[in-house]
Amino acid sequence: MTTDTTGTAARDGEPRRGGPADSPFVRACRREPGPHTPVWFMRQAGRSLPEYREIRANVPMLESCRRPELVTEITLQPVRRHGVDAAILFSDIVVPVAAAGIDLDIVPGTGPVVAEPVRTAADVERINPIGRDDVSYVDEAVRLLVAELGDTPLIGFAGAPFTLASYLVEGGPSRTHAKTKALMYGDPELWHALCARLAEVTLAFLRVQVDAGVSAVQLFDSWAGALSEADYRRYVLPHSAHVLAGLADDRSGSWRGDRRAEPERSQGLPRIHFGVGTAELLGAMGEAGADVVGVDWRTPLDVATRRIGPDKAVQGNLDPAVLLAPWEVVESQVRRIVDQGRAAPGHVFNLGHGVLPETDPEVLTRVVALVHELSARPAA
Ligand code: CP3
Repeated sequence: MTTDTTGTAARDGEPRRGGPADSPFVRACRREPGPHTPVWFMRQAGRSLPEYREIRANVPMLESCRRPELVTEITLQPVRRHGVDAAILFSDIVVPVAAAGIDLDIVPGTGPVVAEPVRTAADVERINPIGRDDVSYVDEAVRLLVAELGDTPLIGFAGAPFTLASYLVEGGPSRTHAKTKALMYGDPELWHALCARLAEVTLAFLRVQVDAGVSAVQLFDSWAGALSEADYRRYVLPHSAHVLAGLADDRSGSWRGDRRAEPERSQGLPRIHFGVGTAELLGAMGEAGADVVGVDWRTPLDVATRRIGPDKAVQGNLDPAVLLAPWEVVESQVRRIVDQGRAAPGHVFNLGHGVLPETDPEVLTRVVALVHELSARPAA
């Protein structure tokens, strides 16, 4: 008995058939052929589903992220309903930041709001390192989910340092990211100290999910598109690269120093790197250490593939607003995206950003079936 790259039991060096490591989703991330193009939707677990709204009634968002049974149920809802090829853990990018000691809340209709924004060296010191015990509810939820999901892979996730820094420095959502940029350009040393701390929190949060059994991770740098490529490379990429490298099969990586005796569970674990408005950053976001680069609707997937290069898969890229249009429009856009995705060495169908709350869930279910139908490949 040997162990394949994701820890799945194997005989005679042959990976075991079945299991999440052999799923269409993980295969596409690895640029391996599969039975069809896999589909999941960012924000699939959420307000577009009546069963979600019902179960979340009277439970505040952050509180719901800390109840493993509730997290499990919400994460499973879109898998049951739509037949998506992957589940994404129900949580939020600010969950580890709250665990690190920052006083914040997620305000319905607004998003994360931070009680005391982080703007000085003393503020940065308030962000504590985190470990498994600080987010034990996430560890527990992932374990429950892996047991429930069977062959369906579970995607873990975290926010990237820039996007987290934006919420912390602004104190809440921002259209211009002006305070964030003022700090970044005005005090690069403090900026790098802040991002280095956030990178450690993010890496620790992802490690907990990987150790508990997720099959892939997605690093959300939702707001990185606010930067030029030069500034992205200078101020952001090194920190995101630190996170992604910390999850790679890198025995010299700092986090592995004291863990050599443990099985290489994250070896080969697919890493997805996503942002919005990142047409100019796609190459750099791949270079940061991703196996799959998320693409929004502004860049066709064949164009994106030329920018990203042949050694990475792509994920995307239906405009979430298209789902509000008549079915004929949805259908033609889905067809176009499946076709353009064939230019990539691996394609995970998704939206270019999260599901809008007003989306009819029936349309999501139809999109999953359509992508599967259009991309079905005869068994080898
Ligand atoms: O994708 C999923 O289904 C998994 C769950 C998930 C949530 N947030 C649940 C959530 C994921 C992956 C996230 C990531 C997240 N959170 C990001 C990156 C992705 C992106 O959308 O760009 C960001 C920027 C956040 C911060 C955040 N949290 C925002 C902007 C909001 C929405 C505010 C609002 O109410 O419009 C939240 C709250 C949030 N996170 C909700 C959900 C389901 C809505 C809370 C509710 O149901 O009231």
